[in-house]
Amino acid sequence: MVRMILFFAFVAAISVATFAGLLGGQFASRFAKEPQQQAVEGEGVVLIGGPFTLTDQRGNTVTEADLRGHWSILYFGYTYCPDVCPVALQNVTLALEKLGSRANRVVPYFISIDPWRDTQEVMAEYAAYFHPSLLALTGTPAQVAKAAASFRVYYSPTSRPETNDYTVDHTSILYLMAPDGSYVTHFSHATTVEEIATRLAEVL
Ligand code: NI
Repeated sequence: MVRMILFFAFVAAISVATFAGLLGGQFASRFAKEPQQQAVEGEGVVLIGGPFTLTDQRGNTVTEADLRGHWSILYFGYTYCPDVCPVALQNVTLALEKLGSRANRVVPYFISIDPWRDTQEVMAEYAAYFHPSLLALTGTPAQVAKAAASFRVYYSPTSRPETNDYTVDHTSILYLMAPDGSYVTHFSHATTVEEIATRLAEVL
């Protein structure tokens, strides 16, 4: 069931991204000054990336401007996730370890879509299980919503967050972004360590 939900979330995310891309394209042609992050994928234009302001596990503010100057792998999830989030983050960790010193040119980001429970302290504790360069970002519910929207990420708590006992359905995609901040490609949590490492090695 979880896999089905993830699959549909993935399909929905791609559909939304494509639709948003088409819309974005129309707006872009009308309002040429609108900043755009564009990448051609298939026949559509996918707009992934945009403004956000979050806080990392050390209390530093991180915005979209901080994605520039290095390759970035972004994954949206939450620390209480029982299945796919740890797998995705572990795969990124192992892929970066395979790359040796070249991994210095990549910064992995874990962005919480559970701002109600994922405090800075919780994120710090969780990030320690993965790659040492992992930046674990969280923020207010509004900040997280904005970041998720910028990356076309869907998320939805299964019950009211006030209950403190819930899971969060969410898009499970690893985004690879170039040093200029533009979208390059994406992986799923099911993409193998080998595949991620190979793709990274091609671009680094
Ligand atoms: Ni998850």
